[in-house]
Amino acid sequence: MTATREHFGSRLGFILAAAGSAVGIGNLVGFPVNAVKNGGAAFLFIYALFVVGICLPVMLAELAAGRASQRNPLGAFRHFAGHSLFATVGGWLSLITPYMIAVFYSVITLWVLGYLVAIVSGDLQQLSDPAYFGQFINSPQVFLFMALIALIVGVILHFGVKQGIERAAKVMMPMLFVMLVGMVIFVLTLDNAMAGVKYYLIPDFSKINAQVINGAMGQAFFSLSLGMGILITYGSYMERNNSIPGSAKMVALTDTAVAFTAGLLVIPAIFSFDPGTNAEELSTSSVALVFTFLPKIFLAMQSSVGYFGASVAAAVFFLLVLFAALTSLVSIIEVSLAGAMDQNSISRNKALAWVGGSMVVVSIACAVSFGMVPFFTGFTHYAGIDKSFFDVVVDVFYDTILPLNGLMVCLLVIYRWRKENFNRELEVGETKYKGTLLERYTDLALGTFIPVILLLVFINTVLAKFFAIHII
Ligand code: PHE
Repeated sequence: MTATREHFGSRLGFILAAAGSAVGIGNLVGFPVNAVKNGGAAFLFIYALFVVGICLPVMLAELAAGRASQRNPLGAFRHFAGHSLFATVGGWLSLITPYMIAVFYSVITLWVLGYLVAIVSGDLQQLSDPAYFGQFINSPQVFLFMALIALIVGVILHFGVKQGIERAAKVMMPMLFVMLVGMVIFVLTLDNAMAGVKYYLIPDFSKINAQVINGAMGQAFFSLSLGMGILITYGSYMERNNSIPGSAKMVALTDTAVAFTAGLLVIPAIFSFDPGTNAEELSTSSVALVFTFLPKIFLAMQSSVGYFGASVAAAVFFLLVLFAALTSLVSIIEVSLAGAMDQNSISRNKALAWVGGSMVVVSIACAVSFGMVPFFTGFTHYAGIDKSFFDVVVDVFYDTILPLNGLMVCLLVIYRWRKENFNRELEVGETKYKGTLLERYTDLALGTFIPVILLLVFINTVLAKFFAIHII
């Protein structure tokens, strides 16, 4: 253990940093597309139900476990469950998962930076060519942008929790909110935008089925950065006089509000470009949407605002995505740093060198798996589909494992640490928590149906993703 653990400087700082982690590419594009394809406001309603009914209690569990143990995720599992097999598996999963997510997320972030630079250099026209993306991700430029991302994230993390993470969030998050609202206002003034708003907001409950519910659950879970060890780690940096329930509610609300607002930007923009858009045609892949579809939409705006105006709008949008991605990336790499610092008693810089260095190497393996290196491109094959190394990392660590990790945290908190101690921790900094509806609900749900639901989602995803068996 390092001598004294760093802490966030203020409650607002913590909320912005945690919201910075939660608000990511998933909010800006994943949510709007899922919503519009799956019943608009009906999807939103189910999503909100999951956020409140499942995610919020898990969030409380992660934050409380972190703050009470003052440890990284592995340390927290050990703190409450000793050297049991359960603690070893849960703890290591909570360290390996964020490491691997960081690996592929840094690749996406470097693409965002590359696109931003291209737009600023006046290349919006080229970007909207469908072939551009494939060429770009296989060009040597990728390594330059990866180095830049490593540098930016490395500098932020070098300065630590308060001077680095918190300061970066305090700068980037307000700018992100302003850009988001500004872009929404701009897009809503475009012709046909209102058709998109209608499509987005009018509920269609007939589209809701078991699969959509499963998807809403997965989306809510990763959007709030659950099951990634992030909130355990950030909880360990929280001051004891801060309210965990109050802060968690703020983070959940901010994250959901950003996701919802992003829909008011992306969906009307698409409709304004093509009033006949049929939601079924939209790709579910956020990646495809950001890099191949949206540049086309921005270019089309030139008929009303000129090429320069369209480029400015595109540049603001990509800067927005870049900020969202950077604050998420910082939070997820911090988990590995905290793990390395706590478990090996080494300094932040030494941890940064080891974690950062190895991460760059594994990220390169991901970045070259789109054709540059055949071994990583045709890495494996399952469920009838060829999978690159990048695909495998995304399938395992982003799409599948999070509910399992969340499940482990529920079991840790309720059955190892025990309810009474968990509640006592939540009352620290929030004396009014005792006896509230949230307390009673969380106590009941975390030990009973939340783990069951998470297990079912996990099993369902494993069967569908890896064995092409669809039970629902
Ligand atoms: N909440 C993020 C999102 O919605 C997920 C994430 C967090 C991804 C941290 C990477 C790192 O995109």
